[in-house]
Amino acid sequence: MTTVRLNSADPVSFDTDALIVGFRSGPDGPRPAADGLEAAFDGKLAASLAAVAFSAKPGEIAKIPTFGAIAAPLLVAVGVGDGVEDLRRAAGASVRSLTGTARAALALDGDAEAVALGALLGAYGFDRYRTGEAPKAPVEELTVLTDADQAVAERATVLADSVKLVRDLVNTPPSDLWPARFAEIAEQTAGEVGLDIEVLDEKQLKDGGYGGLIGVGQGSANPPRLVRLSYSHPEAAKTLAFVGKGITFDSGGLSLKPTTSMDWMKSDMGGAGAVFGALVGIAKLGLPVNVVGYLCLAENLPSGTAQRPSDVLHSYSGKTVEVLDTDAEGRLVLMDGIARAAEDGPDLIVDVATLTGAQIVALGWRTAGVMANDDEVRELVVEAAGAAGEAAWGMPLPDELRKGLDSPVADIANLHPERWGGMLTAAIFLKEFVPDGVRWAHIDMAGPAFNKGEPHGYTPKGGTGAITRTLIGLAERHASA
Ligand code: BES
Ligand code: MN
Ligand code: ZN
Repeated sequence: MTTVRLNSADPVSFDTDALIVGFRSGPDGPRPAADGLEAAFDGKLAASLAAVAFSAKPGEIAKIPTFGAIAAPLLVAVGVGDGVEDLRRAAGASVRSLTGTARAALALDGDAEAVALGALLGAYGFDRYRTGEAPKAPVEELTVLTDADQAVAERATVLADSVKLVRDLVNTPPSDLWPARFAEIAEQTAGEVGLDIEVLDEKQLKDGGYGGLIGVGQGSANPPRLVRLSYSHPEAAKTLAFVGKGITFDSGGLSLKPTTSMDWMKSDMGGAGAVFGALVGIAKLGLPVNVVGYLCLAENLPSGTAQRPSDVLHSYSGKTVEVLDTDAEGRLVLMDGIARAAEDGPDLIVDVATLTGAQIVALGWRTAGVMANDDEVRELVVEAAGAAGEAAWGMPLPDELRKGLDSPVADIANLHPERWGGMLTAAIFLKEFVPDGVRWAHIDMAGPAFNKGEPHGYTPKGGTGAITRTLIGLAERHASA
């Protein structure tokens, strides 16, 4: 497990395997964030960096052997840009470029928490399933060279550990992460960090009237679970409820997905992952706010017991739902989770889900869509995401789209006849299960939850842990002063 410490030592003489130095471009070429660096290299560093065409663009990296000019044998120059997210990414990308190196120190200037967090998130690997020759391990010991207070490192560690917990869960193959297993992991972790937990099994779900979770889960030999995690603080004035989509594998059910859309559907529990990771982080930070987290866990598989297109479900809210497409299952488990969460009397419900391919069509791989039944709430969530460095964009819920969800047999259908605006129609479906007067926001992160492309910044391939930090930020925004 990678650790981070802060140290106010001089970068030039600091004993480490690689010294990472931030550079900004200036009128006379790249300028280092560390004083005395150019002098330590006898004024030859600028020329060396020019020789490898380093221009200090944000995230750009150049590695220079130091031949004893400074204490570290390797200098990593990284362009840091201007914003705080640029800084996180620069820290992450440079640390990521050093896999196989044991120790690294960062002299990046600026927000020390951003540097520590980016560095920790960049030092991530998922090698649990590899045999044979060991792949290069992430950097183990990170030092941020700064005068900042040690508490900064502790906060960054909590945030990074929450995100890494989610990445690990998303990356775990569905053969090793089914609903009951996820619930067991949550139980164990809840005990460790002091969260209350309640797990409803398939019998309790059936008896309790959770028709959505039962319907989606009934095709699988691994039955569904609803996990309720709760964190409370004596000084809390506000209560938040987070609800996460936790489909441990989404085959589509009888409305089967094609292979190339299915091979990464182990990531369809990323919403529940983010809720779980956030609750763990909030408990470790001891924030003065109450937070309840629901993990809506089911495996969506086709079989002789699977739900059929045209089945009607009785949701926890009492409303009936005609299932026209078994692949629109996320909204079916969330409708139960949202209705149940409303019973906690929260000041705000936020659900998080890898809900629609339409999110990716609308906003691309890296930007989540945020929808809400209240403009202020939507803006608050977008602002919290931005502050956390997680791209998110507000989207509307146009009234005219509701009509398409009318069903000839039930109160509502789970599929809109038009694919256009699919992210919005999914959210409009969910909105029907939010009681009047309850503030609610929905985050669709189908793209951001899983990186199918190459690593970038502090984001690895595979599970990203997206939106975990946004939820923690929302809890901070509702904490007592
Ligand atoms: N889990 C998928 C959405 C998804 C797609 C997540 C791509 C991540 C990447 C969801 O359950 C789904 O299948 N949605 C359908 C809804 C449709 C049937 C209305 C979709 O987006 O195609
Ligand atoms: Mn689906
Ligand atoms: Zn799904």
